[in-house]
Amino acid sequence: MPDLSLRFDAHTEHFYSRQLAWLRDRALNDPFVGPVSVEIGSNRGKFLRELSGRDPERFYIGIEWRHKFVELAKEMFEKHGVANAITFRADANLAIPVLFDEGQLQELFVLFPDPWWKSRHRKRRIIQPAFLDILATKMPLGAMIWIRTDVGTLADDMREILDAHPCFEALPFEQFPVEPFPRTNREVTIIAKGLPIHPLYYRRVEA
Ligand SMILES: C[S@@+](CC[C@H](N)C(=O)[O-])C[C@H]1O[C@@H](n2cnc3c(N)ncnc32)[C@H](O)[C@@H]1O
Repeated sequence: MPDLSLRFDAHTEHFYSRQLAWLRDRALNDPFVGPVSVEIGSNRGKFLRELSGRDPERFYIGIEWRHKFVELAKEMFEKHGVANAITFRADANLAIPVLFDEGQLQELFVLFPDPWWKSRHRKRRIIQPAFLDILATKMPLGAMIWIRTDVGTLADDMREILDAHPCFEALPFEQFPVEPFPRTNREVTIIAKGLPIHPLYYRRVEA
């Protein structure tokens, strides 16, 4: 029998129980209404700020687990008068199941996610079969997952997981968006270095 007290230290328990309480409170008392676009790992908010300007009618939500980045993004949204985007601090694995109704998540962006190279850390990667099961309930048919990464092996692993899921289908190249998405901070660096970017675009389909 493993000793679970060694895995759930006081910090982790404190962090997640506070976070869960906040998420539940938000879901009950101030729920998001109508379709939403979500970015996981919104960092300093550059992408969401630029994307939200393209469609003022849509509501954009950035989920970012590092406090410092959330604060920087909030400052930037305020400075630029962004009214249709917010960002908050949470682990997306916890936030997405708690915050959204079935079929509410119209599109999800996962842009340059952490690769978690070591095999013992791989379970921290965001694209996992169990997470896709949750997304399948939150996303209506036709909703999109937009993933971009510069890490070829990570792209291969994520593609394998997405291809194996009955509720998601790869978007054919001919249907890729004509207008490019705004560049994230990391993407700007990657392009400057001349490195390749792997897009993985998947549509929610009937199982
Ligand atoms: C490599 S950075 C990329 C940031 C940004 N998307 C870009 O392209 O510039 C990954 C970001 O995702 C955040 N992140 C990683 N896992 C997360 C999770 N489970 N929930 C929320 N944020 C997460 C990290 O804190 C970090 O800001």
